[in-house]
Parts: sequence; C-alpha cells; structure tokens
Amino acid sequence: MKISPSILSADFAALGDAVAQAEAGGADMIHVDVMDGRFLPNLTIRPCVIESLRKRTRLPLATHPVIVQPQRYIKAPVPPAANLLPVPDAACPHLQRTLQQIKEAGAKAGVAPNPSTPPDSIEWVLDSLDLILVMSVNPGFGGQSFIPSSLAKLRQIRTLVGSRRIEISVDGGVAHDKAALLAKAGATTLVAGSAVFGTD
Ligand code: DX5
Ligand code: ZN
Repeated sequence: MKISPSILSADFAALGDAVAQAEAGGADMIHVDVMDGRFLPNLTIRPCVIESLRKRTRLPLATHPVIVQPQRYIKAPVPPAANLLPVPDAACPHLQRTLQQIKEAGAKAGVAPNPSTPPDSIEWVLDSLDLILVMSVNPGFGGQSFIPSSLAKLRQIRTLVGSRRIEISVDGGVAHDKAALLAKAGATTLVAGSAVFGTD
C-alpha cells in the first residue's frame, strides 16, 4: 500500500516543510490539489507552486487538477514538475485525447471519477490509464466524511481493471480505520490529508 499525503490539509505558509516532513515520514508520493474556483467552490495551488515544491522533494508529485479545461495546463509549466495527473472525467469531454496529451507531456495519466460517476464510465479508456483516483468525497475540501458507497464502487473498479497495471487510489475521508478495508477492496494507494496533517 502506498501513502500519498494531501497537502491541502497542511499549513500553506510552510508547504515546503510539510512536503519534506511527509517524505521523511515515509510518504510514497505527495498529493497536490489544484482548484480553480470554477469546477468547484475553492481555490488552492497554482502551477508555480508545484514548480517550487518540485525542488523540495524527490517524491513523485501526484497533481490533482480539479479545474475546468485541465487540458489547457497539461503542457508547461506543470509537467515535468507533476509526475502523475489524474483529471476529473466530468471536466474532460474528450477524455481519451486528454490522457494521451498527459502521457506525451511526460506525466502518468489518470482519471478521477467523482462520487456520482458510474464505474463503467472509465471502461473504454482503461488502456490509456496509469492511475485511477476514486473520489470518495465530492472534491473541494479536506476533512470531509468518506462516502460509504465508494467502497462498492472501488470493488467494481478493481474488477474492471483486471490484470492491467493501473494504480488505484482513493481520495477523500481516508482515515486510519479505513485503510485495511480499502486495501482489501483493491486500493493500491491511499490519499490522506487530514489523517496525515491534521493530527500529531
Ligand atoms: C478533496 C481532495 C483531497 C483532500 C483529501 O477535494 O481531492 O485530496 O485533500 O482530504 P482528506 O483526506 O482530509 O479528506
Ligand atoms: Zn485530491
């Protein structure tokens, strides 16, 4: 099981330190939520911050662009600073093309289905995916509660993936007591914001 701490719950005045602490603590990658106040009602980090974070850690940066038209930002300046890019299917009318563009830009391509997205909506892009980020909250904020139906959806996605080498991450409301359950249901990476940065 890989752990991807989400810096959305870290101290934004000390993001570089948060990333370094997470690396020292054994994180496998760093989850960076980019929100534009349009796809959802919150504003967070923009590409120049990702460039700066790139210099503070050797870990992969799993940049989660929760924005309208993510394809506009796939080329410079985000990659090569961002190593994994899971885009929301709801923001990508031409998802397969966007996934190809991400790969051409040198990052790993992923899709982040929202809680209301049916699992089989990703079936026909599976061969273009390095990563699926199963949203277990509606994206926008840290500290929300895990949506219980996400577990059954995760199992269905695990079955759809079959023997393909695709990372299956779960993002939102992932607390310590959910880890074993999510691993059994097929998650290979857990994204955790408040469970990592909101506790001692
Ligand atoms: C939600 C974000 C998550 C968030 C998770 O919009 O995509 O990455 O940081 O935070 P927790 O783990 O607190 O639910
Ligand atoms: Zn996220």
